[in-house]
Amino acid sequence: MTQPLVDLRSDTLTQPTAAMREAMYEAVVGDDGYGEDPTVAKLESLFANLVGKEAAIFVPSGVMANQMAMRVHTRPGDVVISGRTQHVVGFEMGASAANASVQFNFVDDVNGVFNLEEVASVLDAQFDHQPTINLVSLENSHMASGGRTWAPEQITALKKVVGPLPMHLDGARLLNAAVARGVSPKEFTTHVDTVMTCLSKGLCAPVGSLLAGSQVLMDRARIERKRLGGAMRQAGFLAAAGIVALDTMIDRLADDHARAKVLAEAFAQKFPESNYDPAICETNIVSFNHPQARKIVARLEEVGVAGGTVAPQRARFVTSALVDDAAIERAVSAVKSLQI
Ligand SMILES: Cc1ncc(COP(=O)(O)O)c(C=O)c1O
Repeated sequence: MTQPLVDLRSDTLTQPTAAMREAMYEAVVGDDGYGEDPTVAKLESLFANLVGKEAAIFVPSGVMANQMAMRVHTRPGDVVISGRTQHVVGFEMGASAANASVQFNFVDDVNGVFNLEEVASVLDAQFDHQPTINLVSLENSHMASGGRTWAPEQITALKKVVGPLPMHLDGARLLNAAVARGVSPKEFTTHVDTVMTCLSKGLCAPVGSLLAGSQVLMDRARIERKRLGGAMRQAGFLAAAGIVALDTMIDRLADDHARAKVLAEAFAQKFPESNYDPAICETNIVSFNHPQARKIVARLEEVGVAGGTVAPQRARFVTSALVDDAAIERAVSAVKSLQI
């Protein structure tokens, strides 16, 4: 009998739960373009409370939420400090240039977090004829580094360095970071002006992300959502699943993290030349450098374990509700018997 695929390509492949499907079926909806969908309003206020902000706005995708943030915080030509490998830089098809006409000033983010001296130096260069910085964007957990997390104190320290500049947090996997660090999501958001999170990754909702911030910023974000074509109508059907996600699916992320760790250990043992330390696997992403990364992914796929690459010579495997303990065991034994 052929075994089902162990799908570690992404946590976006997760399926809505039975409770979500039921909530969607039962959802009371209205036209959210008119601000009349009670289920969307409930989800938005749930998220605003979760991250300690005045207001939130429901959007179709994480990319759109990031783009709305770019547009509310900047004007064309503005400069944004961002980690070199952040999603908003490398995985959104140049959206920030196309939608907000901003330029990035990169800082190193190999470990997910910034070196504060480097940030200070970029800010200082404003006094040497270099561009004025208008926004700082960070990502927690940080996908490209393998789901590494910022500690709340590191965000506080960053705020001290950047002073009054606004900060946007791409928290596509903010709740993974919160579960991994054992803290309330609010601890990551006190110093950021806007924060987004995705409902359709580890939390298993089918569609949707949320952006939160002050009421003034969210009023402007609502206009930007419309401009980007993201105002939806009876969106409560989607929001209903999002409510179930926030109400019931956060704690289970710890299982994804534990399984990722098991896989991380298997890869580290198999490929010592990659210098991958499984201790850095804090959340649900196993990502490491290897000259044969694409070959590793292809060979594993041949034996029913799907992963991917996120840069040349960089493999990535993501745990989610699609992958239980038995599936991880199968992935581990496939890794052990790989011939590269
Ligand atoms: C860190 C990060 N930010 C933003 C996004 C964008 O989310 P979406 O796919 O919903 O547009 C992703 C998606 O994978 C992500 O990993």
